[in-house]
Amino acid sequence: MAFRCCCPYGARVINVALRPADLCPAQLAVVIDVLRATSTATRALASGYRRVLVAGTIDRALELRRPGRVLAGERGGIKPPGFDLGNSPAEVTERRGDELVLTTTNGAPAIVAATGVAPQVRLACLLNLDASIRALRTHAGGDVLIVCSGTDGAVALEDVYVAGRLSAALLGERTDAARVAEAVAAAFPTPLDALAASSDAAKLRSLDLDSDITDCAVESTLDVIPIVTDVAGGVATVSIAVGDELDPVVDRGDTVRV
Ligand code: MLT
Repeated sequence: MAFRCCCPYGARVINVALRPADLCPAQLAVVIDVLRATSTATRALASGYRRVLVAGTIDRALELRRPGRVLAGERGGIKPPGFDLGNSPAEVTERRGDELVLTTTNGAPAIVAATGVAPQVRLACLLNLDASIRALRTHAGGDVLIVCSGTDGAVALEDVYVAGRLSAALLGERTDAARVAEAVAAAFPTPLDALAASSDAAKLRSLDLDSDITDCAVESTLDVIPIVTDVAGGVATVSIAVGDELDPVVDRGDTVRV
């Protein structure tokens, strides 16, 4: 599959997909769903889960159940029936199995979709912001697409905030979407201000999940870069990048290896 960037620039381009509908080809995609999918996946890997299997649908997640796997996720913000955990980072601070299967409304499909436009896909959030910036600064390859998972197809303020923080820390030609994200990031004094102002935070508050907002607003405490190493059958396998693995090309096997 060819991944030719659609952006009209000669130098390395820093672009932001403000919503999944804005996905376009790039060398590297960095997917953000700060409330809460990429925060939870990053937290799970930092807690010792060997892999996070990101499933686009509940049915696919249920099919992946095996001994040693823990099923986590949400629909409407709530743990789906038959699942072990919801989608709170606090629920994965202690490892309860070898692998986490994660399905969420927006973040999980965005991660799977990003593998269709970029040969390299990483996950970012505030918890691993500094680590993500450092890894992106040393990324030798071409164009970077920061993907905001959004909410039900629409722009989500909190994802655009994190995209702007990432974009502002990188060198390269910016698209207007990247400039928009940077302007949003500059408008908030703290990450918590940005997250708390979003509609998704209001939804979490209505579900008594206020502590998830503060947990996801903590900046740069996790020194891990989750990368997609494999995608098959609607499931993206995410692991922590170690050394040279930081720039793997996603393996698109015909066989589901999960
Ligand atoms: C999503 O993928 O839509 C979110 O992570 C939603 C949530 O955590 O409630």
